[in-house]
Amino acid sequence: MKTQVLPVNEESIALAANLLRQGELVALPTETVYGIAADARNGEAVKKIFEAKGRPQDNPLIVHICGMEMLEGIVSEVPDRARKLADAFWPGPLTMVMPKGPEVSPVTCAGLDTVGVRMPSHPVVQAVIRASGVAFAAPSANLSGKPSPTNAADTLTDMDGRLPLILDGGESAVGVESTVVAVTGEHPMILRPGYVTREQMEQVLGEPVLISHAILEKLNDGEVARSPGMKYKHYAPKAEVTIVKGSFSAYTEYVRQHTAPGVWALCFDGEEAALPVPCVSYGRENDGASEAHRLFTALRELDKNGARVVYARCPRSDGVSMAVYNRLIRAAAFRVVEV
Ligand code: TXA
Ligand code: MG
Repeated sequence: MKTQVLPVNEESIALAANLLRQGELVALPTETVYGIAADARNGEAVKKIFEAKGRPQDNPLIVHICGMEMLEGIVSEVPDRARKLADAFWPGPLTMVMPKGPEVSPVTCAGLDTVGVRMPSHPVVQAVIRASGVAFAAPSANLSGKPSPTNAADTLTDMDGRLPLILDGGESAVGVESTVVAVTGEHPMILRPGYVTREQMEQVLGEPVLISHAILEKLNDGEVARSPGMKYKHYAPKAEVTIVKGSFSAYTEYVRQHTAPGVWALCFDGEEAALPVPCVSYGRENDGASEAHRLFTALRELDKNGARVVYARCPRSDGVSMAVYNRLIRAAAFRVVEV
């Protein structure tokens, strides 16, 4: 299959809408990362997403909508909490897991009786949903296990020949995937951290928001993940990544002792000159939004540069940085050394 990359305009949006209505795949920009869209009601179309990504069949997809009225048929009930969170954070990088409605294909939800729904804020996704009238399932546009792409070029690297169309809408502003929160339990629970933080949701809801322990720690053998995506190795570049936790001087010393050909540092902006190995930086220290914006691109840059071993500076694990830490620790296959 030939993959076309087109700039965003009326024609390419109409083409994308047509492809989606016909049960084909389209990769497109969202404010978080690039996604691969298919009609969420059409099981045959959604199967093509799993094939294109090489994604395990038991990992459910998020359904994307552009207005509250589209929830009808997609969810069977909108809990009060979900309305409050939608008022505060939609459109935006928040996915809510709710009871599944009859119109969503079981393939989309991997057979679960719940569905993750998100109303993205990116104007291109909104335009395509509106033009097609289709609520679409859309996972991140990477090959399963790779870092999510935040631009059209990285999307093409992973998806060339696997789908007919990529819409090029420039770089994704947020850089990590949406926050996923289950809203039906006794208390809401974050299943995947993102740009919308625990603290922000607690403020809106006036109740505690729990954090699934799989977010910051490795699942025990045999343990069932609340969010199936959490159990897979993820976001991994080709290099072996280790997080080095400690002060900058202790980190620098550690890297110095482990210097060898193929060793790279994944550091914060401005630290490069003090390091004895080649570096890629991923944003400003203690600035979660800046780290999130850079992380996946930085991981892909390490691959492009042929890095074989990477020592990464450790981000904080609160606020937006919780999302960064969550992705980085998976990219590192949970290898953390304290110095
Ligand atoms: O920002 C995003 O959410 C991006 C863009 C494209 O919108 N999409 C995205 O989708 O990250 P994906 O498929 O890469 O990640 C979906 C995550 C997975 O970890 C999955 O297990 C979880 O959401 N998920 C989806 N539906 C779920 C459900 N019903 N219950 C629990 N977890 C669910
Ligand atoms: Mg993904």
